[in-house]
Amino acid sequence: MITTRLLLKHVILGIILLSGIASFSQAIKVERILVENRQNPLGIDLVKPKFTWILASDKFNVNQSAYQIQVSNSEDFKNPIWDSGKQQSDQSVHVTYAGPDLKSLTYYYWRVKVWDQNNSASKWSVIGKWQMALLDTSDWQVKWITANPESTTAKQSPILRTEFRISKEIKTATASITARGLYEAQLNGEKIGDAYFTPGWTSYNKRLQYQTYDVSKQLKQGLNTIGAQLGEGWYSSPLAWNDNIYGDKSALLLQVNVVYADGTSEVFGTDENWKSSSGSIQYSEVYNGEFQDSRLNKENWSQSGNNEGIWLPVNVEDFGFDNLIATYNEPIREHESFKPIEVIKTPEGDTVLDFGQNLVGFVRVRASGKPGDTIKLDHAEILTRENNFYTDNLRAAKQQNTYVLNGSKNQVFEPTFSWQGFRYVRLHGFNGEINPDDFTAIALYSDMSKTGSFSTSNALLNQLQHNIEWGQKGNFLDVPTDCPQRDERLGWTGDAQVFASTAAFNMQVDNFFTKWMKDVAADQLDNGSVPYVIPQVLRDGDSGSAGWADVATIVPWELYTHYGDRDILLDQYESMKAWVAYMQSQSTNYLWNKGNHFGDWLFYRPDDDTDGRAAITDKYLIAQCFFAHSTQLLANTAQVLGNNKDYQKYTTLLKNIKEAFLKEYVTPSGRLVSGSQTAYVLALNFDMLPIELRSQAADRLASNIRGYNYHLTTGFLGTPYLCKVLTRFGYHDLAYTLLMQKSYPSWLYPVTVGATTIWERWDGRKPDGTFQTPTMNSFNHYAYGAIGDWMYTELAGIQTEITTDGVGYKKISIRPHFENKYSSEDVKNQNQGEPLTEVNASLETYYGAVESSWAIEQGQTVLKVAIPVNTTADVFLPEADSGKITVNGKALNSFRAIIFRSSSEDETQISLGSGLYTFTFNKS
Ligand code: BGC
Repeated sequence: MITTRLLLKHVILGIILLSGIASFSQAIKVERILVENRQNPLGIDLVKPKFTWILASDKFNVNQSAYQIQVSNSEDFKNPIWDSGKQQSDQSVHVTYAGPDLKSLTYYYWRVKVWDQNNSASKWSVIGKWQMALLDTSDWQVKWITANPESTTAKQSPILRTEFRISKEIKTATASITARGLYEAQLNGEKIGDAYFTPGWTSYNKRLQYQTYDVSKQLKQGLNTIGAQLGEGWYSSPLAWNDNIYGDKSALLLQVNVVYADGTSEVFGTDENWKSSSGSIQYSEVYNGEFQDSRLNKENWSQSGNNEGIWLPVNVEDFGFDNLIATYNEPIREHESFKPIEVIKTPEGDTVLDFGQNLVGFVRVRASGKPGDTIKLDHAEILTRENNFYTDNLRAAKQQNTYVLNGSKNQVFEPTFSWQGFRYVRLHGFNGEINPDDFTAIALYSDMSKTGSFSTSNALLNQLQHNIEWGQKGNFLDVPTDCPQRDERLGWTGDAQVFASTAAFNMQVDNFFTKWMKDVAADQLDNGSVPYVIPQVLRDGDSGSAGWADVATIVPWELYTHYGDRDILLDQYESMKAWVAYMQSQSTNYLWNKGNHFGDWLFYRPDDDTDGRAAITDKYLIAQCFFAHSTQLLANTAQVLGNNKDYQKYTTLLKNIKEAFLKEYVTPSGRLVSGSQTAYVLALNFDMLPIELRSQAADRLASNIRGYNYHLTTGFLGTPYLCKVLTRFGYHDLAYTLLMQKSYPSWLYPVTVGATTIWERWDGRKPDGTFQTPTMNSFNHYAYGAIGDWMYTELAGIQTEITTDGVGYKKISIRPHFENKYSSEDVKNQNQGEPLTEVNASLETYYGAVESSWAIEQGQTVLKVAIPVNTTADVFLPEADSGKITVNGKALNSFRAIIFRSSSEDETQISLGSGLYTFTFNKS
């Protein structure tokens, strides 16, 4: 049996009161359509792309009973290349293309039509389109090029360009571009596309993404100039305490395929005829920032006829095409912008701008001055308690942008190939009065759509949610990173796995993680071990830490449950198996007690620990728990994939792992050898204990929390499951009390001292205003934000059923905790006001928006629920007097749209189809 979040604790005394399926005809329409989870994507290199459509109706209980898809080469659909015909199926997400082979760079148009359960048909959807990428390495007809070494110094960003002539009418023109390093491409004086830091970051030697752009509007008949400037980026900047991890030479590969109106075609792109030069960028690095001398700018370098400066022939390189892949995730784009909220003169005499939000991106600055005047911007996350600019926690990362002015008025600067993590900016070289309007902080992150919203009647909790979201924005810059500011910014696997589920509530992270998981598999060692960071840029052998390497099983499973696409399991299956096999190979009698582990990273550890309050958890106990968890997820996966042999194999393995755990780490009376919260949380969450030992373990956990005066003591690995376990074992009030705890260590402590993002440590800034050790003290680290999952699933109660026909919110549960009491008078008295009176949450799924919003007004609870078309939901109302429940203003049992209900003393369960419902009820 697959584990499910829906532990039905109550006996359902179900009686079907009313079939209620409305007999009137159902209006159904296709509202939005997606290919590979994106709208009208370009550059798909999957030969069988998948379609998803989101349905809408203003009726209740609407389901899809059949669909028909047509795919065509033209928008008129006169000769579809594939017509699925009417398929009797309720599948509306991830439907696989099953027509003839798709061709490189070809545009395809598609539409879908559906029938509801009464067989009444929708109209055809809008017409969607997508374009295939270059499907075969032989499609690349251009050559890798590097700058002529005479045209740039080692650190300067080279510019490479060419001119070519178009003499016929253009039908389509597609640019496929990538680089070793970063590139910013231009065509006829304009940037191509609006993405930053292309081609993104992957395990470059095995997987290098190219981007696909429609340049048909930017190209013109006559002479065209195309080219790109290159930066070092992740490819060759100092990274992870090394230089030139992937190579020391930036290179460009650019191909433009033009199809003319007369049906002929032509290919242009990088070759030996290109020329290179340099421009204003003197250096640009990930950690250290960018240096531009605008006196050296070749402003119009991509405009035909502009021959400013010296251009030398490029070198052709033989780098091959084997590692090239199309881009699957969303590009990094510009998002929110901020103006300074204050110009601060610090006690140390610095002029510092405060943008009010810790963010990742850069400052766009407007400046005027004499030629050669130099301005500098330093970036920091926080000020000291004395109000001085603080950069010690950036370690070796300089985070400094330097601009040399050329004497013209109102020059605008921003880095091209670097970004910073900051809230505060220190200014150098600015003369006269500072005009805040000259500065704009721009947030950059992967352009994932926002899917979740969560707000409550408590302002601190709302700020916590804000901080979680900003932790995500700042660290989802093409790969999930630990932090975005110090000399690290790496794809730490542990951080990513603990946060993945929360991330999937806040934003559509499907493609983002799917792409990154392929890098996990690509960088996985031959023996199955998984590196600490992905892409792997640390030392060989830096791998295999429990709770980090389990990213290989946890993230695919989370993606499957949130998005309902079993292909992620299929694609990652070998990698998942290899990781479990590795743990098994390191075990003796199923006990895994070897190797290096980070353990419950950054758990509570008081400075002067004379009475042994540090919450240390045995690292091998943790390892054994994750060994079991990964094996459980692998067994689940085998079952989903219909691989019964593997399912049996991993179920047996799991049994042995748990037995070994009991023998080694649990006393006969059920005490764990480590008495920490994390030890009990992991043992309970992963079902390591036999049922009869679970409630005493939960009691021990609860009394441990009380022993710390209602504080958590967990680190990276225990924290994500802490409140879940408490709620599951009947200690919801304690979970709520921990959440609302304002004193350190707690989630709200940083909020009370002004945090705008999640911190790496519970006490990054201590109550006395001093900082934790600068060697490890990021103020933008999302891991502890993993509480977000519990806020959505338990406070708002939005859950998906985790069964093969329920995942991805096809079957929904709305199970909020309306009653959230403090179990500690202390916490209650921390000026928290009344316990929550309101929670509003929504989640945009592949079926549409799910909503669960509740408010308690004068003893009456009002719950608003939105259930998308083609899904069903169970709503759970605890202790409600079922006779007095109303739905949309009517008595429950007279409401025709409700298809099933049942009740017990503790709980009323109402089964619903799609629609918008407002329930009101009183506690019985
Ligand atoms: C990172 C963490 C990471 C850890 C491993 C740190 O330097 O910032 O978030 O998971 O190393 O212990």
